[in-house]
Amino acid sequence: MVAEVLVGLNCRPGRLYVDGTVGEGGHAAAILDRSTPDGELWGLDQDPAVLQTATARLAHHTSRFHLYNYSYTQLGEILEEKGAPGVDGILLDLGLSSHQLHQSHRGFSFLGDEPLDMRFNPQEGVTAAHLLNTWPPEGLERIFKEYGEEPRSRKLARGVVEARRRAPFRTTQDLVRVMSQALGPGGRRRGRLHPATRVFQALRIAVNQELDQLDFFLSQAPAWLLPEGRLAIISYHSLEDRRVKQRLAAWEQAGVMRRLTRKPLTPTTAEVARNPRARSAKLRIAEKFS
Ligand SMILES: C[S@@+](CC[C@H](N)C(=O)[O-])C[C@H]1O[C@@H](n2cnc3c(N)ncnc32)[C@H](O)[C@@H]1O
Repeated sequence: MVAEVLVGLNCRPGRLYVDGTVGEGGHAAAILDRSTPDGELWGLDQDPAVLQTATARLAHHTSRFHLYNYSYTQLGEILEEKGAPGVDGILLDLGLSSHQLHQSHRGFSFLGDEPLDMRFNPQEGVTAAHLLNTWPPEGLERIFKEYGEEPRSRKLARGVVEARRRAPFRTTQDLVRVMSQALGPGGRRRGRLHPATRVFQALRIAVNQELDQLDFFLSQAPAWLLPEGRLAIISYHSLEDRRVKQRLAAWEQAGVMRRLTRKPLTPTTAEVARNPRARSAKLRIAEKFS
């Protein structure tokens, strides 16, 4: 949703933008192009590997961008370090990149057989395998239910605890096998989703504390924006979108920010055809009052 983001951020020369989830730099490149000749961009990402790709992609914009191996929750630290009062626009494109899903070998996809890591930053925090091997069954049940919206969370948590008594979880296929066994032969028929889909989402959210990070960001974002600064957030599941929607409504009521999208923008059919992972994307935009 690049075009919608550029309009949403009111991208112009001479302004300072933050891409809080810069990934491989797709949106960042478009922001720099649109803000030619002197717009600036700070790109943040927790994953040091994707920043290498972004650096190469943005190289021709030379002095107009800076990349940081930071969480978007740390934008306040950068502002302080730079002595900057705020920025003109912030983009968050939540979740994980195609590179992380298909090429990182960190266990984000259940299609291959990879180490069950799932950390965006492999130098921080604990892995999905550690969580599966050590958490009590109630904790596992809670994340499967809350973060995966998985109706059979108790059964699956019990399956994990039984399986780890025999051997610790190491790879994605260890988990896929246990999910299929726990649900039995009828498990797949209940819905179209693979039984592991929701559990993989839940584990990724838990490992990276994604909802806590988003909540913290939403509690700070207006303070990081200059008057009339714009915020654009793309989310990919209802747990994220609900939070963004509620916060935007609350800001408007409190006279902090004005919603520019009552209903979220969604990708066109052509974009979904090009990139099927975009099908669940929802973009919400708001502007800080002057
Ligand atoms: C969907 S991708 C972004 C793709 C990017 N918009 C582009 O055009 O290439 C999401 C990125 O957000 C990063 N990410 C997730 N949580 C983050 C956080 N709290 N702080 C910074 N980056 C984060 C992931 O590492 C991933 O690279």
